[in-house]
Amino acid sequence: MAARAPDNFRLKPEATKKQPEATKKDQPEAAKKKHPPLYGLGRAPTAEELQKLDIIIGSDGNGLPPGSGTAGEGRIVYQTRCVECHGATGKEGPFDLLVGGRGSLTSRRPLKTIGSYWPYATTLFDYINRAMPFDTPGSLSHDQVYATVAYLLYLNGIIGEHDRLDAATLRKVQMPNRNGFIPDDRPDVGKKKK
Ligand code: HEC
Repeated sequence: MAARAPDNFRLKPEATKKQPEATKKDQPEAAKKKHPPLYGLGRAPTAEELQKLDIIIGSDGNGLPPGSGTAGEGRIVYQTRCVECHGATGKEGPFDLLVGGRGSLTSRRPLKTIGSYWPYATTLFDYINRAMPFDTPGSLSHDQVYATVAYLLYLNGIIGEHDRLDAATLRKVQMPNRNGFIPDDRPDVGKKKK
């Protein structure tokens, strides 16, 4: 049922008249072309600028940059750049808890952390490199990101304090919840391309 307009509401007479359909002929020249109008603003990014943004690292580790780090080195980065938001040992917050929760996913109070939930270590590099520290993303060097990843994996009991992570070793790290995900069996999801 259509909502009734209040009694003191009247449409302006011209608004009730049927408007003629807009035709292609009425559109400005630029709108007829495939690309939207440019308005003379902006410019195409340079190859170098694109490269800075082209930082996606897949779960298989493809795209991991050169560099390396250990938990010992990462402790310093963590204590200076992450601790205020993620707590002294990654368990305190105030923001996302990064450590602990192993075995809690099937409990009544599942706690999703790097150690309990993340299926790949490689995407941890991708995420921290791209998004953390939250207030200054992109400010860490690749060595610092490797080191921080190592420290967080160490705090979660996944690697040793002196294990050195780089593009080759990081992709070998087996996360505890690697097999905790089940394929989505809805018929329209995840169909293999032929
Ligand atoms: C100013 C606060 C702040 C700082 C500093 C910060 N983070 Fe975060 N972090 C956040 C917030 C907020 C989120 C949640 C973001 C979201 O959900 O989009 C988050 C999420 C994360 C996550 C994802 C957690 C998950 O399981 O989903 C990781 C990993 C992480 N941060 C690592 C780091 C590391 C490593 C550093 C230091 C290099 C850092 N953060 C510094 C605020 C911060």
